[in-house]
Amino acid sequence: MSEVPDPAAATDAFARPIECDGPLYRQLLTRPDGRRYSAVVELGAGTGRLTALWLELSLTVIALEHNLRLRAALEQRFADAIASGQLAVLPDVADLSPLAPDTVFLAPYNVAYYFPNPVAFAAACQPALSTGTTIYFDVTDVADPRDGLPIPGRLTSRTVGAFREDVIGQDNGTATVVWHHHGQPAMQFVIHPHAPRDLLRAITAVRPTSVVHRVATGRDDDTPFSVFEIARPSTPRLP
Ligand SMILES: C[S@@+](CC[C@H](N)C(=O)[O-])C[C@H]1O[C@@H](n2cnc3c(N)ncnc32)[C@H](O)[C@@H]1O
Repeated sequence: MSEVPDPAAATDAFARPIECDGPLYRQLLTRPDGRRYSAVVELGAGTGRLTALWLELSLTVIALEHNLRLRAALEQRFADAIASGQLAVLPDVADLSPLAPDTVFLAPYNVAYYFPNPVAFAAACQPALSTGTTIYFDVTDVADPRDGLPIPGRLTSRTVGAFREDVIGQDNGTATVVWHHHGQPAMQFVIHPHAPRDLLRAITAVRPTSVVHRVATGRDDDTPFSVFEIARPSTPRLP
């Protein structure tokens, strides 16, 4: 979509409250005795809702965000951290330099569902998978029939102030989401009805030795989500 009036405002209107996942990530990224990592790569930083947390934890951050207007909003919001060298904002995983040791790769808040399919998401994680960097991502199980996607052709809408969200079920089982700000389309993306196990299968297809664990669960309104950890298996112990 070329004309994007104010995606940052639109995403803020539907943002997940930080209390849902902030404490989970804080716990995963720190040890009781201090820091566990020195750097974070965040795939899909959005408005910087969680980027603020990584900075607060004194981590060096590379925020990947492919939406131009959201990148501009991130650059404005975190100008001081960029100036001090703590944060870099980049468009794409292709722009990443080799990952430093003690980096953690994060793809929070359903970022996996923004990719055309689970294999494409796994491919975006490749810089971390290929170096054995720990990855955390979280997804809502939208395959749950109780809170699943609209059936093909069905439109559901909700409005918050000047923002409207339209979710349109598609024939291929996906749903297109369009956010409007003052009646103008502000952001559009596709949600996939993949259960986490499809994502996990794709991850292990890209790197067969990866081990995927569910490490935390939370709730966003009434919808449960799970945080997964992908790690290189520990070296097998000799008998
Ligand atoms: C649900 S938002 C998550 C935002 C943020 N991590 C949070 O927790 O609030 C997903 C973001 O991922 C971005 N995104 C999707 N695919 C991407 C890709 N291939 N590379 C970089 N960013 C991507 C979208 O533009 C969107 O801003």
